[in-house]
Amino acid sequence: MQIYIVCIELLLSACLSGILAKKEDEPISEDKGVLVLTENNLNQALKQHSQLLVHFYAPLSGESLGSILEFAKAASELKETKSSVKLGKIDVSKEKDLAKVLNVTTVPSLRLYISGDKYNPVQCPVLKSSTAILTWLKRREGPSADLITDLSQLESLTAEEELVVLGLFKDVETGLVRLFYDVAADIADLPFCVTGSKQIFSKYNIFDDSVVLLRKSKTAEMFKLTSQTVKEDVIHFIRVHEMPLVTEYNGMTSSKILNSVVQNHLVLFTDKAKKGFKQIYRAFKSTAKEYRGKILFVLIDAGEPRNGRILEYFRVRREESPLVRMVNLTDNLQYQLPSDQLDIQTITDFCQSYLQGKVKPKLQSEPIPDGWDKQPVKELVGINFERVAFNEKKNVLVLFYAAWSSESRALFPLFEDLAKHYNDTEDVVVARIDITANDVNILMTDRYPSIKLFPAVYAERVVPYSGPNELEPIVEFVNAGRAQAKEDKAKEEIERKKYLDAQKEATKEEL
Ligand SMILES: *[C@@H]1O[C@H](CO)[C@@H](O)[C@H](O)[C@H]1NC(C)=O
Ligand SMILES: *[C@@H]1O[C@H](CO)[C@@H](O)[C@H](O)[C@H]1NC(C)=O
Ligand SMILES: *[C@@H]1O[C@H](CO)[C@@H](O)[C@H](O)[C@H]1NC(C)=O
Repeated sequence: MQIYIVCIELLLSACLSGILAKKEDEPISEDKGVLVLTENNLNQALKQHSQLLVHFYAPLSGESLGSILEFAKAASELKETKSSVKLGKIDVSKEKDLAKVLNVTTVPSLRLYISGDKYNPVQCPVLKSSTAILTWLKRREGPSADLITDLSQLESLTAEEELVVLGLFKDVETGLVRLFYDVAADIADLPFCVTGSKQIFSKYNIFDDSVVLLRKSKTAEMFKLTSQTVKEDVIHFIRVHEMPLVTEYNGMTSSKILNSVVQNHLVLFTDKAKKGFKQIYRAFKSTAKEYRGKILFVLIDAGEPRNGRILEYFRVRREESPLVRMVNLTDNLQYQLPSDQLDIQTITDFCQSYLQGKVKPKLQSEPIPDGWDKQPVKELVGINFERVAFNEKKNVLVLFYAAWSSESRALFPLFEDLAKHYNDTEDVVVARIDITANDVNILMTDRYPSIKLFPAVYAERVVPYSGPNELEPIVEFVNAGRAQAKEDKAKEEIERKKYLDAQKEATKEEL
């Protein structure tokens, strides 16, 4: 039976490819020199071009957009050099079946199909610029690193580039240097050069075959090669050390950060324009050195309007900064540094505990504590917050606090007093929530600790309190809020009644 089905499938696919073959005679349309590939014409394109570099993209993804333009640029440059490489693109959002057949899992991504082999393409790293695409292709064909014979040649190169990868080899023809060429072929976004010059060896005080990263001609890092070294070791070394100690997140660095070989990222959210920034940054950077290769240190400027999206992604409000969060890119869990003291010791301790698996991830909600509503001050968490706070029968006074902040904890006794004060008042609830352990679905525009009233109306309304943290003014604030709520709710009732009556009329007419 099994074999039978397979036979039918074979027959069908033979028929289908026959149909496809007929269609394949049409010329393949191009967009800015890039073949527009589909399920129907891919086989034909593979047959016609012995080297076909295919760009898989989704037009609606922001990341794809930039790469589409750069890809078209690369195509026109390739045409000028009469290269045998042809570029093509596949819109994965349209060609869903084809993407599945080709096992495409990420966009944007690039693959080089050689000699029409659909099954074994060369994966190309995600290259952000047309120059990088061309470099990658060139390095696959010819020598992948430029040979440098004297110091002045090297100096003119390092003057031009932010970072240069230099291979120093006693023998620049055979042996370990081949490994270096292989590495260079794989890393198209950095300039590589090779030298056997004694002058350069002695300038950098190097005696053995080595790879050196040069930042503006200064040695940044060195890696000694031995017969045991494999390509992946060198790539890892370069990828870890090409990043500065602290990388600021922006349009240029975002893909480097996301594609980093280091999977643990410590992210500092801070407003660079605010005072105190320099001190925190210094502490952050000093700690970074110790964790190189284990943790990538990233800075996100919370004062930069273009970072709105990324702040939203992390659910960090600008007003909360400065704060530090660890992100495990493997499982996407986040861990908040539980302190507002951001010095070397605190950051180091946090990194250490995290790597030892001793830190608890930041959860959207803590579990509802046993007897949360039995104490005078009700204990809210993410899950029960909305249900309690937005209750049209209760005026709910909430303290938003951070468990680790002493300023927050100082308000606990005051809230006990408030709860006592309202003990016999049916329509007032006094509550508190640890806002660093629980996410709530309201706009928080201030830092904790903060006090807000959720008045007893149907609308989901929040009234922030901004007076002194003392019993009397808060009681006045709550009572004023209650009175207002009573008035507003009466209006709401009238509106609701009108609405319901209109609904009734409408149903009557329909009948
Ligand atoms: C896709 O993956 C499946 C299973 O791993 C494999 O059988 C198939 O040949 C792959 N297709 C291509 C085009 O690589
Ligand atoms: C990051 O997540 C992965 C996958 O869950 C896990 O194996 C790894 O231990 C985590 N890293 C740390 C440092 O907790
Ligand atoms: C609150 O009132 C109840 C009775 O209504 C009383 O039993 C309880 O002791 C009071 N609690 C406080 C903290 O005063």
